[in-house]
Amino acid sequence: MSGNVWMFSHLIDEKDLMMLHRDFITLREGQLYYNFSPRRFSRICKEAKAFYKIGKMVRINRRTLDEYLRKTRRITMNKCKVIAIANQKGGVAKTTTTLNLGIGLAREGKRVLIVDADPQGSLTVCLGIQEPDQLDNTLANILTKTVNEEEIRKEDFIRNHEEGVDFIPANIELSGVEVSLVNVMSRELILREFLECVKDDYDVILIDCMPSLGMITINALACADSVLIPVQASYLPVKGLQQLIKTITRVKRQINPKLEFEGILLTMVDYRTNYAKDITEAVKDTYGSQIKLFNSYIPMSVRAAETSIEGLSIYKHDPKGKVSKAYEDLTKEIIKMN
Ligand SMILES: Nc1ncnc2c1ncn2[C@@H]1O[C@H](COP(=O)(O)OP(=O)(O)O)[C@@H](O)[C@H]1O
Ligand SMILES: [Mg+2]
Repeated sequence: MSGNVWMFSHLIDEKDLMMLHRDFITLREGQLYYNFSPRRFSRICKEAKAFYKIGKMVRINRRTLDEYLRKTRRITMNKCKVIAIANQKGGVAKTTTTLNLGIGLAREGKRVLIVDADPQGSLTVCLGIQEPDQLDNTLANILTKTVNEEEIRKEDFIRNHEEGVDFIPANIELSGVEVSLVNVMSRELILREFLECVKDDYDVILIDCMPSLGMITINALACADSVLIPVQASYLPVKGLQQLIKTITRVKRQINPKLEFEGILLTMVDYRTNYAKDITEAVKDTYGSQIKLFNSYIPMSVRAAETSIEGLSIYKHDPKGKVSKAYEDLTKEIIKMN
């Protein structure tokens, strides 16, 4: 398929997006602005009878399309917030943060979906599934079915956890899917296409990214409204962060103009040591002007390390502990910011 080239050959700038007050826009502008995948967007424009021909050029009539979207209640995109939890370094508490922030938000009354986007399936294990690799219905199948335009029954894939969140599990099959996406048209937008169908049911969707910046992580960034970056406060993370920030900026420029930084979260902080203080200062100095550093930070504690095998959040495992309190504070800080 030659289609995999187009995504990067039609770069759109934020300047171009400013033009969107125009009544007639191109297909590409429309996809980015309305946040639908190309395939879905074309289908909707057709249904809406919003295609407009000017000589040989095809344009979308925005007024017609907006009216149709309102009528069919498809304009919902700002209601649900999608946050990707990403850092290509492993062991920085991405999974622990996704789990406890997700359950924290549910405890505050939000409808939360947690997506495991790591073939290691650690989040899936944390949510109580002992053998993720035995599962049939995981994110890998969702992506494959979306690519093949097969019907997806949400209830087959979305599971409920006793602490009030829904989740989509992952397992090793996801690495196979990542490889197979290489030749798929608009391969960066597959997850976004699926999530558009479930967004109405949630206030927040959290995506636990894998420790790499490959195509699955790009898919997560392409459908996210923001990225939360956990940073382990025990070594100088400066170099790794630059690569991550570069990738995020590129995705924002080329695929997802709405993408923002939610913030940097310091994890496994041990303020009894001096270097934890030094690293906090270093992160503030280096990135503070660009990215918010959360006031809340997550202290180091063995109690946090124990939760992964239990299938429960820190709120259940050690409700009075400092990590529990820290994730509660983070949850409140994020709710306040949004
Ligand atoms: N606050 C903490 N204190 C001590 N250990 C932690 C803390 N948070 C996470 N851990 C442990 O650190 C390891 C890596 O965390 P994890 O969330 O799996 O990171 P990642 O998803 O970035 O690879 C896990 O064993 C986890 O239990
Ligand atoms: Mg992880």
